[in-house]
Amino acid sequence: MRTLSEKAVIGVVGAGAMGGGIAQLAATRGHPVVLFDSSDDQISKAQIANDKALRRQVDKGQLSETEAHSILKKISFGEDLGAFAPCSLVIEAVVESAKVKQEIFSKLETIVSADCILASNTSSLSIASIASTCKHPERVLGIHFFNPAPVMPLVEIIPGLLSDELTVDASRGLIDSWGKTTVLAKDTPGFIVNRIARPFYSESIRQYEEGIADIATIDWALKEIGGFRMGPFELMDFIGNDVNLKVTESVFESFFYDPRFKPSITQKRIVEARLFGRKTGRGYYEYAPEAAPPAPSKDKKLGTEIFNRVLAMLINEAADAVFLKIATVEDVDLAMTKGVNYPKGLLRWADEIGISTILSRLEALQEEYGEDRYRPNPLLKRMARNKETFYSAA
Ligand SMILES: NC(=O)c1ccc[n+]([C@@H]2O[C@H](COP(=O)([O-])OP(=O)(O)OC[C@H]3O[C@@H](n4cnc5c(N)ncnc54)[C@H](O)[C@@H]3O)[C@@H](O)[C@H]2O)c1
Repeated sequence: MRTLSEKAVIGVVGAGAMGGGIAQLAATRGHPVVLFDSSDDQISKAQIANDKALRRQVDKGQLSETEAHSILKKISFGEDLGAFAPCSLVIEAVVESAKVKQEIFSKLETIVSADCILASNTSSLSIASIASTCKHPERVLGIHFFNPAPVMPLVEIIPGLLSDELTVDASRGLIDSWGKTTVLAKDTPGFIVNRIARPFYSESIRQYEEGIADIATIDWALKEIGGFRMGPFELMDFIGNDVNLKVTESVFESFFYDPRFKPSITQKRIVEARLFGRKTGRGYYEYAPEAAPPAPSKDKKLGTEIFNRVLAMLINEAADAVFLKIATVEDVDLAMTKGVNYPKGLLRWADEIGISTILSRLEALQEEYGEDRYRPNPLLKRMARNKETFYSAA
């Protein structure tokens, strides 16, 4: 019987950026936690990071000194995978390598009890491939947290091809009980967020490449007119252009090179020049203290055209996710608002603007460029034909 109580022992493999945060989150929710990393250095770093994060909460008056102390005491550090024997759920957050993850999952199966659930926090690998070397793939699933795990409200729950319902329900119930918003995603490249968000970057870069506007103006358009918290170029610099290119390439490859997901030469060159963004002091922008940020043109008409083009492409992806049953309408909108802070759910936005307006913007782009990248999703065509909306009370 696969259940996860509030006292369940939670295991976390990998104490990097994600694993350390997941361990802190589980301990904060009252679970005894076992954390293991193959590098002692990473364990020390995770201890320091968790200590700092909790101290900040104490300073802000969100936690008492005693509570912070007892949270830290709940996390024990394993010497090897054997430490996971008492766990009811083990969440793996090691390097993004199918081989390494498969090895860990196969070993874990020989250590944990038959009821223990095994989850991967992978961003880009398939749960099917990670579970493929397990004797009991029915207890394996994806639990995809966003960075930083203790803070970001969204968690994508991804059943593998062979996961059973008990595994999925128990895991989702537990993560919900931790105060997170969970959405259910099919085991497909990029799951919900990393799939649908691609055009935010790619269509912005494309417009920059065409000379429609400079980066400052495109960022301004998406923020001031679109209401996004950060512009695409600022955001890519923040995430790291190297990381962002990797995700783009991985999604493109996993979709068998569908032109909708094609990375751009601009992105590749900026990475080749090692202009990774904030972390290296320069990306699309310069971050030296004396560097003056470039001024946007603030031309409202131009800004609206830039924003409309990016939004139409984002809505096309969101519609595709619903069309191919990757997620429900509600989960798609929740994922983008809670996972990447979009100002509005994309499908709610589509209803407000009008499906036929979005469709005609996409058709105009496809007509102009003749590229498959702009092909409108069949769902939008059908909905426009039948005068339907995504939500009943649009
Ligand atoms: N960083 C993000 O923004 C983010 C967001 C969501 C999901 N993810 C996913 O989470 C996972 C971890 O990402 P991260 O950013 O924390 O990486 P990271 O590089 O910060 O940490 C990975 C850790 O795994 C450890 N490790 C490597 N091989 C190991 C092994 N065999 N046994 C035990 N530990 C091992 C490393 O020592 C390192 O501490 C990846 O699958 C990634 O795709 C990352």
